[in-house]
Amino acid sequence: MQRTHTCGQLRIEDINEEVTLAGWVQRVRNKGGLVWVDLRDRYGVTQLIFEEESSAPELLEKAVSLGREFVVQASGTVIERTSKNDKIPTGHIEVKVTNLEILNSAKVPPFIIEDETDGGDELRMKYRYLDLRRNVVREKLQLRHRMMQETRKYMDAEDFIEVETPVLIKSTPEGARDFVVPSRVNPGEFYALPQSPQTFKQLLMVSGFDRYFQIVKCFRDEDLRADRQPEFTQIDCEMSFVDQEDILNTFEGLVRHLFSNVKGVELEEVQRMTFADAMKFYGNDKPDLRFDMKFSELNELAQNKGFAIFDQAELVLGICAKGAAEYTRKQLDELTNWVKRPQIGAKGLVYVKCNADGTFKSSVDKFYNQEDLKSWAETMGAEAGDLLLVLSGEEKATRKQMSELRLKMGEDLGLRDRNIFKPLWVVDFPLLEWDEETQRYHAMHHPFTSPKKEDISLLETDPGSVRANAYDLVINGVEIGGGSIRIHDRPTQQLMFKHLGFSDEEAQKQFGFLMEAFEYGAPPHGGIAFGFDRFCAIFGGSDSIRDYIAFPKNNSGRDVMIDSPSTIAEEQLTELSIKVNLKG
Ligand code: AMO
Repeated sequence: MQRTHTCGQLRIEDINEEVTLAGWVQRVRNKGGLVWVDLRDRYGVTQLIFEEESSAPELLEKAVSLGREFVVQASGTVIERTSKNDKIPTGHIEVKVTNLEILNSAKVPPFIIEDETDGGDELRMKYRYLDLRRNVVREKLQLRHRMMQETRKYMDAEDFIEVETPVLIKSTPEGARDFVVPSRVNPGEFYALPQSPQTFKQLLMVSGFDRYFQIVKCFRDEDLRADRQPEFTQIDCEMSFVDQEDILNTFEGLVRHLFSNVKGVELEEVQRMTFADAMKFYGNDKPDLRFDMKFSELNELAQNKGFAIFDQAELVLGICAKGAAEYTRKQLDELTNWVKRPQIGAKGLVYVKCNADGTFKSSVDKFYNQEDLKSWAETMGAEAGDLLLVLSGEEKATRKQMSELRLKMGEDLGLRDRNIFKPLWVVDFPLLEWDEETQRYHAMHHPFTSPKKEDISLLETDPGSVRANAYDLVINGVEIGGGSIRIHDRPTQQLMFKHLGFSDEEAQKQFGFLMEAFEYGAPPHGGIAFGFDRFCAIFGGSDSIRDYIAFPKNNSGRDVMIDSPSTIAEEQLTELSIKVNLKG
């Protein structure tokens, strides 16, 4: 071994020990006859000291010559520091160096490799291997590692078997575009990379595996956001002979296990809410329950009082922001401008202040008297000191706008504390969703999700109202996972494809293998997949999943470090029977 200890290990008890450390030079301080070097490795930082009085001149010279990020090996004696640093675990000692080897020199790094860095996003992405040297970044990957180990521990203890499924497959319709890979030996044909192992895990249930899981890479060619990467990781799970309740309980167990063992947080009861209620009260299928601010419908109270905007609206919707009556005119104008931004798209914002003296002051005093406003406040459970915010318009759009406004108010009022965790099961999702663009129904989850028995007859008459045995796990307003009880017989699966607009031939061509498998004794089954990167980000208190992935893509789906995607050689294209015809 090239070292006896790590840079995070030595303590006051180790004084007088002869040690050898190895690591990276974080900083050199030269105070005339005294040189200090902060030596860093994955485990911490240890201070090395060189003294003119007692060190050989060559040694001192070598220490002075060190640059940032040089890789060195240092041997010496552990001594007590005269000025101690209580901020780091090794802060009471230093190593008085007697021998220093430079194992490798380093160019001056393009940004400072410390917790606070001067490097911008793109630069840090280009030199990701340097960014990963920083504590704050490495710790996120260590958290990921812990989550992964604890997941395996729980799943193994619950008798789940980890099975690897193939990466070169054919399209599974999970709603995004596929990444495809050309097949050289089958000219003109392509594999697709899995958007999820959905069909394979169902086939494993037909095989009798009973309980499967996999921590698995999935690939989706979709627009990127802070919580979306083109390749991401799922904890993918499937179980046989279970109903929805069994699945929710089993995976609530996993969520509890992770919170308890990784974060030391004992969760309260995981709430449940139907999709219909989530939309009605929060305008969103992934409500953030760290704060209340439920929607109130005000049509009855606010219409027919002469205010044309409300009278013409399909929906008048309000929220009550607790204790925000003190908002100034300027703040209210800013809020109004905020909801009018094209991204939100509201026409305007009505406010009512519930004053401390029991009176009301609103932006629509012309149309509503104190009694009217009082009735609004009562309906919304408002008290003196609260601020009511009201939007109106077409129902769906208004709920969506209000959902955004609710989150903003939650943020502005400091109600979205990253150390509070409010997990929620959203259940009873609709089976189908109308798509304006293609003018047909799409599976809201995926086409293998089973409809609720009692709703099957509605498939013919009112497809949009059929509910599915589908559920999502939401934590603090983030969709962490989703799953369903599956269809496990051929006729129902065929019926589903028919309603999704597949011809019999198309269904057979794409999913004949699955429907055939259902004819060989498929057990009732269901499952779920968690977005592992998102799970880690929630644990780490971040909005973006990027830092929880060792080598992520940027917002244009590029890896700027290895410069990918990139063009390939003409010969490679020819070999793959591909003609590239770039326009423009
Ligand atoms: P779904 O499509 O809901 O379900 O995906 C499961 C979870 O994966 C995460 N996720 C993503 N994370 C990062 N980047 C992305 N681009 C991305 N897309 C999805 C989300 C999501 O909740 N096969 C089904 C599961 C099942 O039915 O068992 C599936 O993939 O957190």
